[in-house]
Amino acid sequence: MGDSEGSEQMEVGGFLSTLTVAKSYGPAVAILVAVTLPLILSSMFAGKKKVKQRGVPVEVGGEPGFGMRNARSKKLVDVPWEGATTMAALFEQSCKKHSHHRFLGTRKLIDRSFVAGSDGRKFEKLHLGEYQWETFGQVFERVCNFASGLIHFGHDPDTRIAIFSDTRAEWLIAFEGSFRQNITIVTIYASLGDDALIHSLNETKVTTLICDSKLLKKVGTVSSSLETLKNVIYFESDNSEALTNIGDWKISSFSEVEKLGKNNPVNARLPIKKDIAVIMYTSGSTGLPKGVMMSHGNVVATAAAVMTVIPGIGTNDVYLAYLPLAHIFELAAETVMITAGSSIGYGSALTLTDTSNKIQKGTMGDASALKPTLMASVPAILDRVRDGVVKKVKEKGGLITKLFNIAYKRRLLVVDGSWLGAWGLEKLLWDAIVFKKIQSILGGQIRFMLCGGAPLAADTQRFINVCIGAPIGQGYGLTETCAGAAFSEADDNSVGRVGPPLPCVYIKLVSWDEGGYLTSDKPMPRGEVVIGGFSVTAGYFNNEEKTNEVFKVDESGMRWFYTGDIGRFHPDGCLEIIDRKKDIVKLQHGEYISLGKVEAALASSRYVENIMLHADPFHSYCVALVVPPHQVLEQWAQSAGINYKDFADLCDKKETISEVQQSLTKVGKDAKLDKFEIPAKIKLMPDPWTPESGLVTAALKLKREPLKAKFKDDLQMLYA
Ligand SMILES: *[C@@H]1O[C@H](CO)[C@@H](O)[C@H](O)[C@H]1NC(C)=O
Ligand SMILES: *[C@@H]1O[C@H](CO)[C@@H](O)[C@H](O)[C@H]1NC(C)=O
Repeated sequence: MGDSEGSEQMEVGGFLSTLTVAKSYGPAVAILVAVTLPLILSSMFAGKKKVKQRGVPVEVGGEPGFGMRNARSKKLVDVPWEGATTMAALFEQSCKKHSHHRFLGTRKLIDRSFVAGSDGRKFEKLHLGEYQWETFGQVFERVCNFASGLIHFGHDPDTRIAIFSDTRAEWLIAFEGSFRQNITIVTIYASLGDDALIHSLNETKVTTLICDSKLLKKVGTVSSSLETLKNVIYFESDNSEALTNIGDWKISSFSEVEKLGKNNPVNARLPIKKDIAVIMYTSGSTGLPKGVMMSHGNVVATAAAVMTVIPGIGTNDVYLAYLPLAHIFELAAETVMITAGSSIGYGSALTLTDTSNKIQKGTMGDASALKPTLMASVPAILDRVRDGVVKKVKEKGGLITKLFNIAYKRRLLVVDGSWLGAWGLEKLLWDAIVFKKIQSILGGQIRFMLCGGAPLAADTQRFINVCIGAPIGQGYGLTETCAGAAFSEADDNSVGRVGPPLPCVYIKLVSWDEGGYLTSDKPMPRGEVVIGGFSVTAGYFNNEEKTNEVFKVDESGMRWFYTGDIGRFHPDGCLEIIDRKKDIVKLQHGEYISLGKVEAALASSRYVENIMLHADPFHSYCVALVVPPHQVLEQWAQSAGINYKDFADLCDKKETISEVQQSLTKVGKDAKLDKFEIPAKIKLMPDPWTPESGLVTAALKLKREPLKAKFKDDLQMLYA
C-alpha cells in the first residue's frame, strides 16, 4: 500500500506542475491545489468493505439445482401495483395517473441535405429541432383513437398485426392501441432478411402490417409471398408522399387511421393477464427465426421488477429511446418508463450525438437536445463510446492526455471501492476539469445507464462509470424470459457480474456433467442457468417441439426456461455468466475450449475489431477469422514500411498476419489462456461484419452458423 500511495502522490505532484502552464485551466489550479492536497494527505485506503447480500438461496421446484432469489422480496413480484395485470391496464392507469405530465417527445425535421463522401456516395445529413412533447393524457387519447380506427379501417380483431419499423413514438402508440382490442402484436427486427420476414408474417397469419414508409418498400418487393396480408398502415415521415397501390393491399397512413377512430369510437375489448400480447421474432443463430410468445403478465412482471432496481425512478426522469423496439430489451425499458411516469424522447443510433453520422455539422444530436437522465445501451455501443473518447484524448496529446489519465486513475480508485475519502468533493473537481466535456456528449444529465443484450467488458464498464459518472445496471435476460432475469444493482461496484435475480423470478443452476460445471463446485456453485417465474414466456409460436425442449413446468406449475448459458453464483447472491453450452467445443485430444471466453480475451488486441474462433473435434488446435480495424492496421503498415495495393491485399500479406498473430499470442498469454486456446492459424478479413450482412445480431453478437457457412472455404484453408 505504501508504495502505491507514494507513486500516486508523485504523479499528482507532476500533474500540478504541468497544470500551471495551462492558461485555460488557470482558475481551476487554485481550487485544485486547495482541494487536492488535503485530499492526498488524508487519503485513506479502505479495508475490506462489508459485503451486501443481494440474493439469498431458496428451495425451488423442478429439476434439482442451486436456487436463488432476490434478497429484498420473499415473494415473487408480478405487478407494479394492484390491478395493473395487463399492458393495457398498466398503460391506461399510468396515463390517468400522470395525465398532465410530458410523455412522448419527437424531434421535427428542420432541414435535410446530402454530402458527398470521398468515394462519391451521398450521405444524408439532418438538422433536427427541439423535442416536441405530448402528455400522458394526449397520448392515451391517440391510443384509443388508433384502437377504434383499426376496427373501422377493417382490421379483424381476431387476427394479428405486425409492426415492422424503426423505433418511434407511433410504434408505441400502435402497440398500446392494439392491446385495447386484445390484438396480438408480431414484432420483427428491421434488419431481418426477406425469408425471415416472409416466414414470420406467414406463420402468424398477419392480416395488417404497420410499418414505416422506408420498410414498406422492402415489404412491397416480396408482396406476392405474403398470402395472408390484407391491410397496410404506414407511418408518415417528413418527406414521404402518400402511398397507394402496392399489391392488393388496402393502404392507409397512420394519421388517417387515428382520424377515423376519433370520429368513430369503438368500445375497448381488453385482454386478460394470460392472453398473448406479443409474438417476438428473434434472429436465431441457425435457420428461420423463432417467434417467442409473451403474455401480458410476462411483460408487466418484468416492468414491475425492473422498477425496483433503478434507484428513485419517477416522473423527473427522461429516457432516450433509440434502440430497436422489436428487441425485448428496449421494449421492456420503455414499459418501465411508462410504469414510472417518466418522459421518453425518441432518437436513433445515427443521430444520437452532435457528431453522429446523420447529424448536420453544427446542429444538435438527440442526446444534447434531450438531456436524458436514463439511457439504455448495448455493450457494442459503449465499447465504441470508450474507443471514441480514448482516441480523441490521444489525439489531443500533451497536457490533455496527461490530465485525463490522472483524473481517470483517481476516479477509478474511488469507483472500484479501493479508496474512500471525500469522494463527493473530488468527483466534483474532476468532473469540472475533465469529465464534464465527455458527459456533455450524452447531454450531461445521465444518472443511470441500463446495459443489456450481451456481456459488458469490465474495462468498458469502468470507463463509463468514471467518465459518464453514472452507475451501469447490467441486465441479463433473454427474449424467452421477456428480458427479466437478473439485474445488477446501482450500488454494486464490481465488474463482470449481472446482479441477483430480479424479484419476478428465481434463478437456479443445474449441474452440467459433461461440460464439467457442477452445483457442488467450490468456491462457487456452477451450472446451466435456469430461470423460473412470472416473466418466463409461453414458448415458441407453432413450435411445440422446441418449446418442450427448453421450457419445463414443475410440480407447482412454475415455468422454467433452460438458457444454455453457464453461470456461477457469488457468495452475495450475484450471478456471473461464465460460458455458453453451445460455444464449448471438445478438441481432438479431449480438451474443452470455450469459444466465447477465448474470443473475449483475444478481442483486447488492438488488431481485433471482430474475431470468430473455430474449433472442432477433428483437430487438436483452433483457428480464427479476424476482422482488423482499418486505421490501426494501416498505421502499422506505414510504420513497418509495408507496401500494399488495397486493404484486402494488406490483410493477405504474410507480415501482416504474423504481426496480428503475435499480438493475439501476447494478449492470450496475458489472459492466461492455455496453449491450445490460442489460434494456431488465422485469416484476416478485410470487410467488417454487420447486422445487415446477417453475420452478427443487432446487438453485434456473432452469428456462428452464418459466419461458418459464408467463410467455409476460408476455414477449410486454415486447416489445410
Ligand atoms: C405460408 O404458410 C402456409 C401454411 O400456413 C404454407 O403452406 C405456405 O407454403 C407458406 N408460404 C410461404 C411463402 O412461406
Ligand atoms: C383475447 O384474444 C385471445 C386470442 O384471440 C382469446 O383467446 C382471448 O379469450 C381473448 N381475451 C378476452 C378477455 O377476450
